[in-house]
Amino acid sequence: MGRIRLLSETVASQVAAGEVVERPASVVKELVENSLDAGARNIDVVIRRGGISLVRVIDDGCGMDRDDSLLSLERHATSKIRSATDLQAVATLGFRGEALPSIASVSRFRLTTRETGALAGTEILVNGGKIDVVRDGGEAPGTQIEVRSLFYNLPARRKFLRSENTESRNIEHQIHLQAIGHPEIGFSLMRDDRILFQLPATATLGDRIRDLYSVDLLQRLVEVDSATSPKIKIRISGFIGQAGLSRQNRSQQLVFVNGRAIESSLVTGAVREGYHTALMKGQYPVTFLFLELDPGAVDVNVHPAKREVRFRDPNSVREAVVRCVQLTLVQARADWQEKFRPPVRPDLTAVPSAKTAPDLSLRSEVTAPETTHRELPHLGTVAGVGLSAEALAKSDDSGRGQRSDFVGQAPRLPEHRFDPKGVAPSLEPQPRDTKPAQQQFEIIGVLSKLYVLMENANGLVLVDQHAAHERVLFEELRRRMEQQGVPTQKLLLPQTFDVPPRDADWIERNLSVLQRMGIGIESFGPNTFKIDSLPSFLDVSDPAQFMREVIDDLKSAGSSASAMRLGEEMIATSVCRHAVKANDPLRYPEVEKLIRDLLDCDLPYCCPHGRPTMIQISLAELEKKFGRKV
Ligand SMILES: Nc1ncnc2c1ncn2[C@@H]1O[C@H](COP(=O)(O)OP(=O)(O)OP(=O)(O)O)[C@@H](O)[C@H]1O
Ligand SMILES: [Mg+2]
Repeated sequence: MGRIRLLSETVASQVAAGEVVERPASVVKELVENSLDAGARNIDVVIRRGGISLVRVIDDGCGMDRDDSLLSLERHATSKIRSATDLQAVATLGFRGEALPSIASVSRFRLTTRETGALAGTEILVNGGKIDVVRDGGEAPGTQIEVRSLFYNLPARRKFLRSENTESRNIEHQIHLQAIGHPEIGFSLMRDDRILFQLPATATLGDRIRDLYSVDLLQRLVEVDSATSPKIKIRISGFIGQAGLSRQNRSQQLVFVNGRAIESSLVTGAVREGYHTALMKGQYPVTFLFLELDPGAVDVNVHPAKREVRFRDPNSVREAVVRCVQLTLVQARADWQEKFRPPVRPDLTAVPSAKTAPDLSLRSEVTAPETTHRELPHLGTVAGVGLSAEALAKSDDSGRGQRSDFVGQAPRLPEHRFDPKGVAPSLEPQPRDTKPAQQQFEIIGVLSKLYVLMENANGLVLVDQHAAHERVLFEELRRRMEQQGVPTQKLLLPQTFDVPPRDADWIERNLSVLQRMGIGIESFGPNTFKIDSLPSFLDVSDPAQFMREVIDDLKSAGSSASAMRLGEEMIATSVCRHAVKANDPLRYPEVEKLIRDLLDCDLPYCCPHGRPTMIQISLAELEKKFGRKV
């Protein structure tokens, strides 16, 4: 007697349903996708008890006649594809003809539907996959599907459901995805008789993001628009977070391919690569990214819940996304600078000290200190622009004597960056009516020896000097490396230092990169190295200690990724961070130059680790905090 039997129809569909319907959120996904495919303009979702007791989706789409509505509950019945050829270029969200029968087989299911203009609609009740009632129904044109008691006939499955809250959140996320993917459609979600959101149809994705999340978020996003890529026909659009904006989880990392929300490690990896140092370690970027490709270039039939796709040319897609993110971030810099406009001061020209119209200035009240505590290096040429006596005293009273291991004093940053004439032609005395086109900030002072307070047109700007310095050094180092010439500073006495064998191994492997960075390091016996020079703009007092810290840092980064994949930029990032750390925080006499240099950077708004360098507190926020505005 054979051991193999055919499963009954019911069991077979329950097994199949297991793939399509994992949890209440999958029901919502499938039903909403059907509504979208049916051309709905408005989709309302109602859930109770995390969708376990009820999911109801109501749309105003094309509806179905009686025959079709009965057929829609059959497995492999679909209006969306006809042949295998159609499967090669699917333009709809659905294509398998599996969702409705699957859902109906594991719930108490009710479908009412009516085509526009039809005299009567249809109502069908299904219990655990068995059609109980078919009758005329009188609902409005469109389709309404109710799914009650999900998995009531599959206790094993029901046990795997999470708390009602978690399931609700999953559903919410699912609707967020669909709502972002289709701003032109109105969406609402009601949870346990409470309206969670009601989103009117909008003209643009930006409006939808504003309605669903907040204006604040929208303001921190950058619009993406890569027309096409040279290698592949692809259009990438949407929004990504400006450098420095990140999240602790993936909930705002949304990716759509031809209107379909997908999970793609290829795309998210490419996004990450595009952000590179603009993203904090362990954090996730915010993306509302839309990829449009020829449907024939994407295989959608690869995942049971249609959550993933396969690209016919994955490398080109990856490259296009990396490039697009990089370009977007760099372009965003100009917009960002525009936002940091100077404070509006109609009487600016009346202020005596403003006559030189520098691109950065001190407030008139704190300019022209009567007595300075010491001579100000490099500031002499900047007529009329100085730092407040306090700011300077605070920032320059550290001991400089510790630097005896260096020959002479190299300027902290290369000369050419600081050539006042090169930086700001407006530094020359100018007529009073000169438009202070480059004037973007006014420095108010330095807080806690670390934060530079500045005023701009929007209100208060706080700059983290450390983060700013890291960014400036990093870009400098990178630029110099590209030009094959990092100026070095010989140490007075070369230093030797020992490291554990594993670290020695790491240094050996990365010796050439370190050397190109201007770090004069070489092997000096087993597990011993000699260091005799450093890049001149890295102001480090204990080179051996500095190298140890850099290695520790990179090792910890390397344990999460592969050690071999630590690229040049990562090493540069770490070198800069430790250079800044090793630097006495008080040694920033040139706050103003630091800021100016920061503004010159490609990505000024975050340090190479992705932490913000600046924070803007708008006047509106201040007014709110002081209760001037409700
Ligand atoms: N809300 C709706 N409005 C109009 N027609 C619908 C709606 N929902 C389903 N249908 C019809 O029922 C058919 C079956 O739906 P079902 O979701 O089971 O399969 P599908 O969408 O074709 O493919 P998939 O299983 O990939 O979702 C659809 O092809 C569509 O013609
Ligand atoms: Mg479907």
